[in-house]
Amino acid sequence: MSRRTPLVAGNWKMNLDHVEAAGFVQRLSWLLHDARYDYDSSAEIAIMPPYTSIRSVQVLLQAERMRVKVGAQNVSAISGGAFTGDISARMLQRLGCSYVIVGHSERRKYHPEDDVDLVDKVRAVLAAGMQPILCVGESLSERSQGIELEYAVGQVSDVTRDLSDAEASRLLIAYEPVWAIGGGMSATPKTAQNAAAAIRQHFRDRYGEAVAGVVRILYGGSVNSNNAESLMQGADVDGFLIGGAALKPDEFAKIAGIVTLAAVARDGR
Ligand code: PGA
Repeated sequence: MSRRTPLVAGNWKMNLDHVEAAGFVQRLSWLLHDARYDYDSSAEIAIMPPYTSIRSVQVLLQAERMRVKVGAQNVSAISGGAFTGDISARMLQRLGCSYVIVGHSERRKYHPEDDVDLVDKVRAVLAAGMQPILCVGESLSERSQGIELEYAVGQVSDVTRDLSDAEASRLLIAYEPVWAIGGGMSATPKTAQNAAAAIRQHFRDRYGEAVAGVVRILYGGSVNSNNAESLMQGADVDGFLIGGAALKPDEFAKIAGIVTLAAVARDGR
């Protein structure tokens, strides 16, 4: 095993109801079984369904004895009470979630949340014993000004600066440039690596090598089975947060296999 186990995480967004989700998991189970997927030495796999599908996904994964993790796409920062429509971290933890996406660019755009909300969400996820996947990344406007790295690192810093070392070491960061999401135009391997390296350097400066060495940094934005291998060449890229390609079990399983092989080739695992 390398220092950091790569993660292949599927962000289903608002897709796949609980019946469709069951069909997905059954197909994925067959594919991983057929590929003799070795959970101990391969990339970790996680699925982030909509809230309504989490329970059926989790039950089926257990029934099929699949060591695939489950996560959520958002969470309330508040622990409970009169907050119609919200879901608490504890509810997600009780459903067996391991991960929660915080600050995805679609949420930042459609449900504006300021950094204070994101800080509280990260804390709520950590306090419930789960791991936050904090999404950061520039839009074309910052990229055209040449300030994309400062911008992405600044987003990380704004949300994580007050965490303890123990808390910071349980974070995952997803570098997802907004211009690369959903459009079929992925970042180049060099762009993904440069951003991941800058984010890791930030953790090194702020927390030291022990924390910087364990924080997993994912790339997200139009990842598919054609570009996964080259994107994994960056030494600081620890896997992917995948949208569109994660809705197709065959493609998703293929990417998990590619990430496993690429990590072995890269890190000599
Ligand atoms: P995409 O989405 O893979 O469809 O670009 C990634 C994401 O938004 O997490």
